[in-house]
This record gives sequence, structure tokens and C-alpha cells, in this order.
Amino acid sequence: MGLGAVRRTALVTGAAGFLGSHLCERLLGEGFEVVGIDNLMTGDLTNLESARKSPYFHFEIGDVREPIRVYAELVFNLACPASPRHYQDDPYATLTSSVFGAQRLVEMARGRRCTIIHASTSEVYGDPTVHPQPETYWGNVNPVGERSCYDEGKRCAETLLFDARRRWHVDARIVRIFNTYGPRMAFDDGRVVSNFITQALTGLPLTIFGDGSQSRSFCYVDDLIEGLVRTARLDALDGPMNLGNPGELTIGELAQLVIELTGSKTLLVRKALPQDDPQQRKPDITRAKREIGFLPQIDIRAGLTRTIDDFAQRLASIASQRQERARHEHAVAIEMSPMPLAKLANAIDASSEEIRSCGDAHRLGDRMRASQRFVRVSDSLDVIARRLSEAWLVYEGLTVGITLRAFTQQLADLVAQLLDAQRSNDSVRIADLLEYEMLPLLVRCRALAAP
Ligand SMILES: NC(=O)c1ccc[n+]([C@@H]2O[C@H](COP(=O)([O-])OP(=O)(O)OC[C@H]3O[C@@H](n4cnc5c(N)ncnc54)[C@H](O)[C@@H]3O)[C@@H](O)[C@H]2O)c1
Repeated sequence: MGLGAVRRTALVTGAAGFLGSHLCERLLGEGFEVVGIDNLMTGDLTNLESARKSPYFHFEIGDVREPIRVYAELVFNLACPASPRHYQDDPYATLTSSVFGAQRLVEMARGRRCTIIHASTSEVYGDPTVHPQPETYWGNVNPVGERSCYDEGKRCAETLLFDARRRWHVDARIVRIFNTYGPRMAFDDGRVVSNFITQALTGLPLTIFGDGSQSRSFCYVDDLIEGLVRTARLDALDGPMNLGNPGELTIGELAQLVIELTGSKTLLVRKALPQDDPQQRKPDITRAKREIGFLPQIDIRAGLTRTIDDFAQRLASIASQRQERARHEHAVAIEMSPMPLAKLANAIDASSEEIRSCGDAHRLGDRMRASQRFVRVSDSLDVIARRLSEAWLVYEGLTVGITLRAFTQQLADLVAQLLDAQRSNDSVRIADLLEYEMLPLLVRCRALAAP
């Protein structure tokens, strides 16, 4: 861009997420001034390390459900948890992020003209009875199932944006994204590609839900981002448009490919299929080809190789950070201010007894008491998680903030494992997780928070 030229501004909501962070980098490369907002529900600031080096990138912690005060000509709305594990953890936040988020964008676009590119999803087709899925297919979605907060939230956001197009001529463009994978996916998001790679690299058995014959189509992230950018360049786009890679493979084939590419010697374990898991998913991209010349370039083998390299690097760096952190922990406790930590300490004290008693009930096979206790433990862990993140936001930038943040992540990992064990009714595992993992973690947090 030459001297004196004016940069166009793009707003990316959900900027710290997997797709958002790649998109920010691409837009910066295209010469945009980029504003990213994210509430960090599932995103991670480390995803933005590269974007943040640019003087044309600006980041705010913010929620898309709140009024948006940024001026931008282009808005990419990606703010919404996207993996089943994340979106089912907080269904209300998932649904409201889609629907209220779309509403806020419409309010913004009505005030100042801008183009909205909204990330919808192939989940709007539910468990499809038409294969592959063209945009004209209306879908087969359960409105009250465990996945509905995501599927129906996205469907409702589409409705809202299309009404805004008809009524107020808002330039809202909807892309329905199919499974996308690549570097920076969260290890713990429960999506099949990240699950398989993490399991293979850490020597765990690869978990296959069902018999592995269900098929999916996987699009490499760079191809998808290309599609988003091309969509923004169009003069106009009327209906929704699928973006994805139509290359199809079964989950069993994907598992074998990951094993081959990681050189892992691990095995496969089978688990029951989750509720409403679609049997087939494959985009019909005729429309995207016609409108934007969209044609994915990266095949699954090449894409997986790059993704595996990224996962391996991040896992190695986490391992060395953990060692470093352990060395600092003691010194860190001395630097703390009592205010938010006192709240954290109270929350931990209140929960520890509950956790012990829940563990005992599970171990004794007292089902009724165990499940009542489990609900209380989940509630109190929720409170601790909130207090922890309050504390690390206060201490962000200091070693102590980093340590507390690590605790938040470990707590989230453990809660995910607990929920998993609860779903499969595995009392022994619940008791073990509570006694041998959760309590020691809380004891370490409590030591940090000691007045
Ligand atoms: N990755 C895929 O395969 C895929 C497929 C279909 C659709 N999508 C859509 O693309 C978008 C991005 O997906 P992703 O894979 O990068 O997921 P992600 O979870 O990595 O990113 C979502 C980001 O949005 C943020 N966020 C969530 N709720 C928010 C809120 N209320 N306000 C502000 N920020 C909020 C999260 O913290 C996170 O950083 C999502 O809307 C998702 O539905 C993704």
C-alpha cells in the first residue's frame, strides 16, 4: 500500500479463535486495518501472537452480544463456540452468541453501512437426508437435542440476517462452513481431527465414535479463508453459500491416515455415537465455484501433515512451559494481592468438601447421592473457573497471571474429562479424577490464593 493511501477497516469477531486468527493474518496481509474482538470463551490470545506484531491490528476483549462500537466497512462474524464439546458446555452462551450477536451486527449495519460476512455452518443441515448438501436443502435438524443450541442458533441467525436484508437492505452475506481443520485448532475441542492428532502424538488410543463408517469432508483452513476473502470481494451475494472441501472420507480412514502420518503405534477404541451425530456430511460447492471461483487446493494428506507439525510443536512448548511454571510457582505466591484471590480462596474452600463427598459417593456406588453431589460439584467448579479467570485477568501480564491462567486451563481440561466420564456413567473414573486430579489441583490453587 502506497504512502497516503487509506486502509480499509475490517472487524473480525471471534478473532482469537481458530478461524478468526487465520483470517486476521490474511486480512492484514491484504492491507486492511483489522480490529479483532473476542470474549475468549474458547479462543486463545496466543493464536494472535503473529497478528499482534502488526501496527494495523487492534484487539479488544469484548462480547458480540453487547453493542458493537467499532467502525468497519467489512465485518466477519465468527464469534461462536464451534466444537460440540465447547458449545454443549454452555448451550445458553452458544445460542445467544449466534442470535444476539447477529442482532448486534444488524444494529451496527443499519447505523453505518457495512458488509457482514456471517459464519454459518453445515450443521444447519442437521443429519441430512440429501447428499451432498446444496444450499437449497432445508435440513433435518432436531430442535430440542444436545446439539440444537448450535444448529438452531445458527439457523435463527441466518433468519435474522435475511430479514435484515429484506427489510433494511443490510448487506449480510452468509457462508455455511463445513468441517475445517488446520494449525491452531484447540487440543481439547473434541473435534475429530484435533482429537486424533492429539491422541496419536501423546500415545493415547484414537477414539472412534460408532463403527467409523460415518463420512465427513475436511477443508484445510487456508482454503476456507480464501473462500471468506473472496466472498467479501463480491459486489453482492444473495442466498447462503456453502464453503468446504467436497473430498469425502470415513472417520475410520481418517484415523488410519493420522496414525500413518504421525508414525504412531497407537490403537483404536470405539465408543457409542453421540446424539444426532450426522452419518454423512459433504458440501455441494457448485454455487461457490460459480460465484467466487472457489476450489480447495490443499488435499487431506498435505493439510494433515501441516496440522500435525503444528500440534507437535505446541505440545512440546506446553511441556517446557509446564516445567518452567512449576519452578516459578513458589516465588509467584509472594507477589499476590489479596483482593480477587481471597474470593478464589473462599470458592475453593467451599468446593473441596463437596468434591471429597462426591468422590466418596461414586466410590461407594451410592448412585443417587453421587449424581446429586455431581451437580453441586459442577456448580462449584463453575464458580471457581469464573473466579480463576477474574484473578488472571487482573494479573494478566505478570507471572502470577500466567500461572492462574494455566490453572484455569487445567481446570477446564479436568471438567471436560469429568463430563466425559459422567456421560459414560464411569463412577470409578469420576472418583479417581476428583480425588487424584481435581483435589490436588485445588490444593495448589489454594496455596497460591492463601492470604
Ligand atoms: N471450524 C469449523 O470447522 C467450522 C465449521 C462451521 C462453522 N464454523 C464457524 O466459524 C466460526 C469460528 O469457528 P472456529 O472453528 O474458529 O471456533 P473457535 O471456537 O476456535 O472460535 C470462536 C471464537 O469466538 C469467540 N466467542 C465465542 N462467543 C463469543 C461472544 N459471545 N463474543 C465474542 N467472542 C466470542 C471464542 O472465544 C473463540 O475465540 C464459528 O462461528 C463457527 O460456528 C466453524
